Amino acid sequence: MATAMVIGTQWGDEGKGKIVDYLAQQADVVIRSQGGNNAGHTVVANNQSFALRLLPSGILFSDKTCIIGSGVVVNPKVLLEEIDGMAAKGVQISKLEISTRAHIVMPYHIRIDEEDEKQRGTNKIGTTKNGIGPCYADKVNRIGIRVGDLMNEEIFREKLKTNLALKNRLFKTYYECEGFDYNEVLHTYMSYAERLRQYVKDTTYSANLYINQGKKVLFEGAQATMLDLDHGTYPFVTSSNPTAGGACVGAGVGPRRMENIVGVVKAYTTRVGAGPFPAEQDNEVGEYLRQTGHEFGTVTGRSRRCGWFDAAVVRYAAMLNSLDYLAVTRLDILDGLEKINICTGYRCKGEVLEEYPESLTVLEQVEPIYEELPGWKTGISACRTYADLPENARKYVERISELVGVPLGIISVGPDREQTIVLRRIF
Ligand code: GDP
Ligand code: IMO
Ligand code: MG
Repeated sequence: MATAMVIGTQWGDEGKGKIVDYLAQQADVVIRSQGGNNAGHTVVANNQSFALRLLPSGILFSDKTCIIGSGVVVNPKVLLEEIDGMAAKGVQISKLEISTRAHIVMPYHIRIDEEDEKQRGTNKIGTTKNGIGPCYADKVNRIGIRVGDLMNEEIFREKLKTNLALKNRLFKTYYECEGFDYNEVLHTYMSYAERLRQYVKDTTYSANLYINQGKKVLFEGAQATMLDLDHGTYPFVTSSNPTAGGACVGAGVGPRRMENIVGVVKAYTTRVGAGPFPAEQDNEVGEYLRQTGHEFGTVTGRSRRCGWFDAAVVRYAAMLNSLDYLAVTRLDILDGLEKINICTGYRCKGEVLEEYPESLTVLEQVEPIYEELPGWKTGISACRTYADLPENARKYVERISELVGVPLGIISVGPDREQTIVLRRIF
């Protein structure tokens, strides 16, 4: 048995795509188990950049099987565009499997997402407006439409009719906006169905079969721990469980089969969308990180909020995900800084907090405790071994590892596959 899992430890965009692509070199199978096209995973290989949203980040290797598991919400239009976009770049998609159990994002989910955000006004979550939350809501409400339903025209017609009757009433009377035409949606989705049919199967069985056959299986997380529906900064979260437990559910693989859980940690912190962010630097430091790191969303192009590395967040993520290793990414973005701060924890009303606060009211009041470390003031993107890194860069990542209580596994010093320092072989 050889499995590994890649999990985001902060608020997303840690560089999971890059780490999955790197580890996929040794894997046979890569599985996405939650989220949808709210994710944006950029992978750089052979001087080409690929922005992936639904396709697992192992897709650049034509010999790897890539699975979109039952816990993913699939927008078929986006997925087909992605498949076509990859083909245009010379990447042929053949070994793709899409779970019959995955739910389908419908046009009304996207409109509800947009309308709900409008109605929330100043309390808006800052969603990606891709209909992710409303799609998961229908899943939980047991009225969702699944990939398996899409493959059967009769069932799809029936479910679409029921859903549209309900949603169109909602659009008319509650949101006071346009609804959708049954025939138009039916026709469009039937054309998607024909193109996707070749990939559709019960991936729960294939995932387990591959593990039983001794294949190396890599689980790719989307979003991140602090965006977890149960354990993140609710309600400023996404609508799935990006934590390690969510990967078991969304892939249909039992927890005893999960080994080598890798937490991807950006060397500083970013967040896109609203919600608490104690170590945020709404100042020249934040601006330095945003500009140097090109911190603008892959999906929405929104400017990402930036701040110092927050050990309280990643310690919490280490506990929730039972992390085995850290993969520290984007260390090179800190190259130009004279001094670097690490947030070691929070103080609230004079007391140092032992636990990550569940309450947003408390989170709004906390004061981050900072420790200052010297920068290294030199380019590290060409470093290929741990010994190549300047001493202060090594001290920085070692301090992160110490504060979080998880050993270092990988250090990433640039977006390219080659710009990766491996301290421990994961598979
Ligand atoms: P994900 O959503 O976690 O996969 O992360 P994103 O792809 O949204 O954002 C991470 C960005 O950082 C992408 O543009 C990556 O190509 C890039 N990246 C990943 N690792 C590194 C690194 O070590 N250094 C630099 N400079 N860029 C990196
Ligand atoms: P990757 O996989 C960063 C954020 C949104 C918003 C909240 C809810 O690239 O790391 P949603 O559309 O999911 O209902 O939005 O979650 N969010 C992400 N932030 N990276 C992501 O994915 C995200 N996916 C969702 O900005 O705050
Ligand atoms: Mg991203």
